[in-house]
Amino acid sequence: MMDETHAPILEVRDLAVTYGGVVQALRGVDITVGEGSVVALLGSNGAGKTTLLRTLSGTLKLHKGRVESGEVRYRGSSLKGRDPARCVADGLVQVPEGRRIFSRLTVEENLKAGGLGAKDKSTRAPAQERVYDLFPVLADRRTQRAGLLSGGEQQMLAIGRGLMAGPKLLLLDEPSLGLAPRIIGQIGEVIREINRQGTSVLLVEQNATMALGVADTAFVLDVGKVSLQGPAVELAQSDAVQRLYLGHGAEETEAAAPRAGTRKTLARWKA
Ligand SMILES: Nc1ncnc2c1ncn2[C@@H]1O[C@H](COP(=O)(O)OP(=O)(O)OP(=O)(O)O)[C@@H](O)[C@H]1O
Ligand SMILES: [Mg+2]
Repeated sequence: MMDETHAPILEVRDLAVTYGGVVQALRGVDITVGEGSVVALLGSNGAGKTTLLRTLSGTLKLHKGRVESGEVRYRGSSLKGRDPARCVADGLVQVPEGRRIFSRLTVEENLKAGGLGAKDKSTRAPAQERVYDLFPVLADRRTQRAGLLSGGEQQMLAIGRGLMAGPKLLLLDEPSLGLAPRIIGQIGEVIREINRQGTSVLLVEQNATMALGVADTAFVLDVGKVSLQGPAVELAQSDAVQRLYLGHGAEETEAAAPRAGTRKTLARWKA
């Protein structure tokens, strides 16, 4: 859990981002990730969630995006001009939307590729053990081609590959996308465990039930702006989030229950 006395690991201040100078994807965004915490970033399609992660991982330029104004500070210093390789080496690691594993490489080769960007080579073997401990199914299938894995297993591999870089702040882009409720529940549990082991997490999700069950605090992005923020438990109960993301009567997910107190069962957000 977040320790209030620690400086935040990430501070986004008044951030504005455009694509091709015309599409205004983010405007005036303020988001803080406390050291050691899990922060959920919710929002519907096109809200700007992936754009924020691209800004943090130094990959915005590759998509013709540009920071127009504002500032991002990671571990106390500005991210301005930091390239993707340096972000990874500094422990700022993005697991992209849609998994993007190398389907013709084996599970183990995918993990090795994830470790290439790590600063300290001596951490690779323990990182791999950590991944196999978190995802025993990947250990069982280490010599198989990644393309043969199920969707859920491929998502686990994508997260595992990110962990190989030794992240201090792990950026996850919609890990629940397209997965069955039971698998989403497992992914949620693993995110908690990764956090418990000391990694801060910024979790982008459309599945509000899972995300709010795992996170300490949460933000809602609405057409490029933060429209709501607060403790995850409080957001789960807010009328706006209930209405937008947690419509009742939908099928139930087995995602982890909210951390503090509330045992209210929330239905899964449906597209
Ligand atoms: N490479 C790009 N060039 C131009 N516009 C883009 C580009 N990438 C994203 N956009 C636009 O920026 C806005 C924010 O997109 P973004 O992908 O960040 O949203 P998102 O919240 O991640 O959505 P989703 O839930 O669908 O993944 C959208 O209007 C989108 O069309
Ligand atoms: Mg996205």
